[in-house]
Amino acid sequence: MKISFKTISAKVTKTDLLVLLSPEGRAPKLPPGVSIPKSVETSFSGKSRETRFADTIDGPAERVLLIGLGKGKSFDLETVRRAAAIAAQKAQKTHAASVTFWVDLKLDKSAEDFGQALGEGLVMGAHRLVDFKRSPKKCSLKKVIIQSSKEVSRGAKTGVIVGEGNTFARRLQDTPANKMRPKDMVAEARKIAKNSPKITVKALDEKSMEKLGMGSLLSVSRGSSEPAYLIHLVYKPAKKTKRKICLVGKGLTFDSGGISIKPSARMDEMKYDMSGGAAVLGTFHALAGLNPDVEVHGLVPTSENMPDASSVKPGDVVTASNGLTIEVLNTDAEGRLILADALAYAEKTIKPDAMIDLATLTGAVVVALGHELTGVMGNSKTLSDELVASGQTTGELVWPLPIIDFHKEDMKGSVGDLKNIGSPSTGAGSCTAGAFLSNFVGDIPWAHLDIAGTAWGATRRDYQGGPVGTGVGVRLLLDYLKKQR
Ligand code: BES
Ligand code: ZN
Ligand code: ZN
Repeated sequence: MKISFKTISAKVTKTDLLVLLSPEGRAPKLPPGVSIPKSVETSFSGKSRETRFADTIDGPAERVLLIGLGKGKSFDLETVRRAAAIAAQKAQKTHAASVTFWVDLKLDKSAEDFGQALGEGLVMGAHRLVDFKRSPKKCSLKKVIIQSSKEVSRGAKTGVIVGEGNTFARRLQDTPANKMRPKDMVAEARKIAKNSPKITVKALDEKSMEKLGMGSLLSVSRGSSEPAYLIHLVYKPAKKTKRKICLVGKGLTFDSGGISIKPSARMDEMKYDMSGGAAVLGTFHALAGLNPDVEVHGLVPTSENMPDASSVKPGDVVTASNGLTIEVLNTDAEGRLILADALAYAEKTIKPDAMIDLATLTGAVVVALGHELTGVMGNSKTLSDELVASGQTTGELVWPLPIIDFHKEDMKGSVGDLKNIGSPSTGAGSCTAGAFLSNFVGDIPWAHLDIAGTAWGATRRDYQGGPVGTGVGVRLLLDYLKKQR
């Protein structure tokens, strides 16, 4: 899908579908020379997400699609995102090859944000699931023109890049675990770095991680024939920057539970256990095009958790790179084991101003917050407030959960410094997981995002949802990074 931009003053050229986003209570404002039956115009009220197709009477467009934006002067960005996604989907359903968005609205200060939401919604709405069928379906939509003000176009260009970051992450998420192995995650990271002079990558292999004493991370993949890696991406803007942020994403390409094996029902969904890693890679995919003024490091510990004769066993004691020993009482609580060494590596060698990890860490967070809210924990109220605010801007909602001393105390081991699961009587599985991680971040401001509920299976909202990956985290992190200077 090729997207290009034109001003309102340019003539509308031949197109299969002309899309008009139209507010409630105002007659749809068609471009000069395009006309549709009066009855369609008058019966369209412009309510949020209302749609109406019309064959044109005259003009360069075959058909017109009116989409309602609802009431108000400055539009709700979620409505704009959804409207653009509806347009992309309707275009594909009707086999339109070319679409022109005609945006002639009074938007004032919000024009750029409106444009960004439009670009995001368009790209995310047009996203097609990875398909491994013998004859995969092809996308009909080849050409999109966005015809609008300079400000809207500028925002839409950003939105397209952000949307592509999201769909990049979704492709990695939805790819089955036999085709998205730790080494494939490494290959994806290398491709990102190859495409941008501002991004570099290295991937620590098992040998290098052994030298660094990452016994916690390495214990998880002992039962797998796929070796583990620690991917380290760095984005450096041209200008010297004040802030350095580190993103860490759990990249378990398959979590069978290991020796503490999971029940077989829905075990297939554990291909999504790399969603945190996908979010970090998707963010870097977009950083290349967005150029924010902040240095960004991305760490993705990636491995596979499988039962085998050489697997880590319940009761084994492993040593993390910061010297802490961990009793692995449940091999299914493996995410925290790989994150432990990744966070310790960030704290020791990258020394960022802030670090944020994203992980499909606990089933408990799905019980607590469901599929629409990501849980945030950590040691910095400022950082978690910033993430909550970015959640509101992007629609990737974030809700704070506590880590109290009681949770930290509960994660202390009997023969090791720590244990990897909380006591059954404590409950609060997401908080105890966060408490475990807090032992590996030192004094660095840190936030942990538990995306186990939001990474897949969210409610449908036109541009995402259903039993597939959401790419959650990419838009959230990009909004957060944009605000760092
Ligand atoms: N990857 C899972 C968490 C998960 C479960 C994500 C369900 C999405 C849906 C994680 O590795 C895990 O298995 N966690 C255990 C921890 C427990 C053993 C303390 C869990 O949540 O049950
Ligand atoms: Zn697990
Ligand atoms: Zn897991």
